[in-house]
Order: sequence, then structure tokens, then C-alpha cells
Amino acid sequence: MIQEHYQKAIKFAGEKHSKQNVPGSEANYLLHLSNVAMEVLVAYQNKPNFDLVFAIQLALLHDTLEDTDTTFEVLTNEFGLAIAKGVQALTKDETLATKRERMQDSLRRINTLEKEVGLVKLADRITNLQQPPSTWKPDKIKAYAEETVLIAETLRGKNEYLHNRLLKKIETYKKYVK
Ligand code: NI
Repeated sequence: MIQEHYQKAIKFAGEKHSKQNVPGSEANYLLHLSNVAMEVLVAYQNKPNFDLVFAIQLALLHDTLEDTDTTFEVLTNEFGLAIAKGVQALTKDETLATKRERMQDSLRRINTLEKEVGLVKLADRITNLQQPPSTWKPDKIKAYAEETVLIAETLRGKNEYLHNRLLKKIETYKKYVK
């Protein structure tokens, strides 16, 4: 049952991210995670051609390795190896020098796994592509827009609905790029 998987994953994520807010917001990080899960659910409602139980768990857990003290071993024990590998691919390698290298490396690893992993990356960026915080400089906004184009191009085959949705969001975001 998807409901039990959802509840287990969001409880785990809620405890792990309990001290973390959405950047530039008073809201707890669960806001971001539930928005990504929502995008996955709407994509499935549009076309049920992927493993929803797998994708929804990835959506809720996708930042546990990057942002919390969760280990690969704990994720494997709690949710299985496929989930742990998916979350790991969605995690940037901080030993790489530049943001661009980190994203290219993550996308390369995402592409070796199930399509649901790439689908969650599309949903993640759709969720994040909003009006930039006032603290962001024009260069940062431009780099974020370019990075998003790279994500959309690299993961275009993972889910048609989310890919098209991301393309529309990229168009909307252009008004912030100076
Ligand atoms: Ni995210």
C-alpha cells in the first residue's frame, strides 16, 4: 500500500530534517519534500507509467543524505538498496570543485538508475524554480537558470509530463534573469 510507504518515509524525513527550514522561509523543510511528492503524484495521475511507491519514497527522502546525518546504510536498512542508491545519485558529491561539476556528476549517476530517480530530480527542480530570494545576485540567478536547462535536457526522457512542466517553468523564470 502506498499510504504506508508514504507515512513511513515522511516520518523518517520529518525527524531527520526537523531542524531545517526551506531557505529564505520560516517553513520547515517538509514543505519542500511534500511539494516534490505532490509533483510526483500529479505526474502519476496524468499518466501512471512508473513505479509510484518507489518514486514517492525517493521524493520524500531525496535530501536525507545531502542535508542530514542519515547514512547510506541506514537508508538501505529502512527502505532498501534501490531507494538508497537513488537518494545517493540525487546527492551532490561535495568533493568536486564547482557547482557545475557536482550537478553534471549527479545527473550522470541518475542516468544509470531507474527512470523514477530522474523523474524525482525533475519534480525537485520544478518545486525549486520559483521567484529567486532577494539575496541572489544576477550571476547566481543566471547560473541557476542554465543549470535547470541542463537538468531538463539531460532528463527529458524520464517523464514527459514533468519535462514539459519544467520547460514551462524555465520560460516563466526568464523574467528574473538579467
Ligand atoms: Ni530537493
